[in-house]
Amino acid sequence: MKDHFKEKSKDWDMGDVQVQGAKIISDAINKRVELSSNMEILDFGVGTGLLGFDIAHRVKKVYGVDTSLSMLEKLKAKNTPELSIETYCQDIITKPLDRSFDGLVSSMTLHHVQDLKAFFETIYRDINEGGFIAIADLEHEDGTFHSDNSGVFHFGFEKNELCKIASDAGFNNVAFENINTINKPHKDFGVFLLTAKK
Ligand SMILES: C[S@@+](CC[C@H](N)C(=O)[O-])C[C@H]1O[C@@H](n2cnc3c(N)ncnc32)[C@H](O)[C@@H]1O
Repeated sequence: MKDHFKEKSKDWDMGDVQVQGAKIISDAINKRVELSSNMEILDFGVGTGLLGFDIAHRVKKVYGVDTSLSMLEKLKAKNTPELSIETYCQDIITKPLDRSFDGLVSSMTLHHVQDLKAFFETIYRDINEGGFIAIADLEHEDGTFHSDNSGVFHFGFEKNELCKIASDAGFNNVAFENINTINKPHKDFGVFLLTAKK
């Protein structure tokens, strides 16, 4: 599997867009989802853990899955005995994890997932009854957000289309709302948070 983040991983945690963006997503999740100290949460596309570590303070355990070994190496270097994320380097659609979770969080990863139907069906199966999903990514864009679109399968997402895919997979209380705007020199890009319950 090609590691599209091999170069980006080197200075991922030094990027303001990444660090501030993940903090805004974490705050938005905290406002909309009741996290508790007995929860086991999966961060899908955990990367270097910018979102996952923030969530880890509030729950029992965060597991992180990512297809980039280089991003996970950066994450592992930040693990401490007090606060750590257990990582898996695999594509959970083709190679599912052998456990279930109380919730799934995800930051800016969904646009890298080719088969959205398969993704939502997979996570529906892996979330415990009563559990939640909270997925943040770009609203529909014109393909100019990334300077290089390799590994990008979607130029953001349309609210109605994405909510329908989540509902069709079985999720309830599906909500989609704008939580941030990323200002780039040439354009502004909206970021949404989709939340739903199983
Ligand atoms: C834009 S980065 C976001 C990383 C992190 N969530 C953050 O906000 O800093 C996208 C991440 O998704 C990972 N990724 C891409 N496709 C994936 C897949 N199918 N399964 C798991 N992770 C994937 C990439 O390797 C990368 O680490």
